[in-house]
Amino acid sequence: MLKVGIVGFGFMGQTHYKCWKKVEGAEVVAICDVNPNIEEDTKRAVGNIGDGQEEVDFSTLQVYADFDKMLAEEKLDAVSITLPTYLHPDNAIKALSAGLNVMCEKPMALTVEDCKGMIAEAKSSGKMLQIGHCVRFWPEYAKAKEIIDSGEYGKVIAGTFQRLGAAPTWSIDNWFLDEQRSGGMALDLHIHDTDYVQYLFGMPKAVCSVGGKGPGGGLMHISTQYLYDNDTAITAEGGWGMMPAFGFEMSFNIVLEKATLVYDLTRDPAFRLCPVEGEAFTPDMAEGDGWFLQIAHFAKAASGKKVEEITTLEQSMNSVKIIEAEKESVNTGQKVSIG
Ligand SMILES: NC(=O)c1ccc[n+]([C@@H]2O[C@H](COP(=O)([O-])OP(=O)(O)OC[C@H]3O[C@@H](n4cnc5c(N)ncnc54)[C@H](O)[C@@H]3O)[C@@H](O)[C@H]2O)c1
Repeated sequence: MLKVGIVGFGFMGQTHYKCWKKVEGAEVVAICDVNPNIEEDTKRAVGNIGDGQEEVDFSTLQVYADFDKMLAEEKLDAVSITLPTYLHPDNAIKALSAGLNVMCEKPMALTVEDCKGMIAEAKSSGKMLQIGHCVRFWPEYAKAKEIIDSGEYGKVIAGTFQRLGAAPTWSIDNWFLDEQRSGGMALDLHIHDTDYVQYLFGMPKAVCSVGGKGPGGGLMHISTQYLYDNDTAITAEGGWGMMPAFGFEMSFNIVLEKATLVYDLTRDPAFRLCPVEGEAFTPDMAEGDGWFLQIAHFAKAASGKKVEEITTLEQSMNSVKIIEAEKESVNTGQKVSIG
């Protein structure tokens, strides 16, 4: 039995809890959160997809306010780190050096330098560190990659990827809106698509981004072209300046030589393959969402079973690197090369 702790029990901590509960051979035994009202506040967690209000059975959990104490008192095999982003490096390193396998939320860290420290600790501890780039596991996105890689419908001509919603205001002290702690909209939200673009096409040679800023000067909206050594048109758009009534959109259109792949969370059916001739159809896909599937994958690997390589630490770091280039491109108005 994999004994699991969760550090940071806000929206994503509760989402991980819900996922872990469905993983056979794993049990969440402890949580850690600095919020002294965590039990009460858990009843009103919100987020951008679904709601975090899965019944949490606190009677089965040891609740800590201090991660060191939790590490000292619990015999854990693995931990989910679902803390605000600026706390990822220190706490992931602490858990790895205590001999735990670590599932850490995305983005890996605020800077590439911080990512390097996490990678070094994962290597020296010999423990697993997986970053929560859940889009790689999201059934429609995983299926789109499978279809592209199969070559059955020819080469990719173009791809556009969107992720749009209102600013995340569910955190208790609004840390999301503080660029120093979250990295802002591009690092927090848009990185999902940046990472997926990297997953599909590898590292871009350069990026060309434009951005819209809010009244306080923070980046609210970004649109990026990813440049490769071929003539594909790959763009992604992210923004958290939408009005609440807009809801949340994650979507893509991928233009292949012999098919169009269309996904839009807000439509039904959300995913369609439109072939050269005939009706559009929805291909068979894995069940569950990307959050669950990434945790099931992590649990399998942490239990010593063989898994397919879907995400690596270097790639998670490289997504932070591409975002840094995108921000530079917004600020300078220039195309930025990625070395
Ligand atoms: N994969 C996704 O789809 C997705 C979606 C939303 C957020 N995230 C990421 O998940 C992470 C957490 O985001 P969230 O939405 O859960 O935020 P949140 O504000 O809802 O939750 C963070 C929790 O951490 C607790 N906390 C803060 N400092 C702590 C400390 N030192 N020790 C213990 N607990 C502490 C807070 O009290 C809060 O309960 C972020 O990195 C964010 O970017 C990922």
